[in-house]
Amino acid sequence: MNSAELEQSLQSFTSRPGSSLSKGDIAEFVDLMQVYEGAMHEISTKLEILDDEFQVRFRHNPIHHMERRLKSMTSIFGKLERKGLPVTVDAVKDNLFDVAGIRVVCNYRDDVYSVSRYLSDQSDIQVLRVKDYIRNPKQNGYRSLHVIYAVPVFLTSGQHFTPVEVQFRTIAMDYWASLEHQLRYKSNLPDQRLSEHSQTLLDCAKSLQNVEVQMQSIHRDISGSPQETES
Ligand code: GTP
Ligand code: MG
Repeated sequence: MNSAELEQSLQSFTSRPGSSLSKGDIAEFVDLMQVYEGAMHEISTKLEILDDEFQVRFRHNPIHHMERRLKSMTSIFGKLERKGLPVTVDAVKDNLFDVAGIRVVCNYRDDVYSVSRYLSDQSDIQVLRVKDYIRNPKQNGYRSLHVIYAVPVFLTSGQHFTPVEVQFRTIAMDYWASLEHQLRYKSNLPDQRLSEHSQTLLDCAKSLQNVEVQMQSIHRDISGSPQETES
């Protein structure tokens, strides 16, 4: 989103009844989104550098692909409203940690843990929160490693430590999560069918996990890339 588009979506928000954003507030939001954009860039670049180095050292690319997104202003305002928070830059900074998001889709489970570990160990960034849904999958079968990093972004106004939510997952986990997301948000099936599909998806999650373990084991045998031991 460029700053003109951002300003336009903020303007449309301010024209809603009950909203009271001034021109100054809007300028602050535009600046804020610029900072999140910068933070997302920094983390993406770090991940690309790690992936390139793995290729040179181990002849293996741990990252299959990455997706990045900035939360839309509509979603940001919706989330603030749901949480009963005011629509202010401070409320976003203090309460929303997923404005900037990167999804890192890795080839194998070892890759998920090595890439996240090498990134977390870098001295210029901080790990704010880790949720390991791979070691502890959600009840519906969802698996991914979520890490919120804080990264310094240097602007003319100085240094801004900014959170970026990174979701690390394997191709199989991503494949599963896409369909589950579609079932949850995009279908209007009757409850009975929904619940049957959810059960099938849970079975699929378990099958995919078994397939991954077996393929990981073959890959470990034929490659020299780092193995991640269970901790
Ligand atoms: P929210 O961001 O407000 O949802 O809370 P949170 O930050 O505590 O959530 P969490 O870290 O558990 O998950 C954040 C993101 O992970 C979601 O926005 C989704 O992208 C993804 N996610 C989490 N749980 C699921 C799930 O069950 N299915 C799918 N498809 N995605 C999920
Ligand atoms: Mg979220």
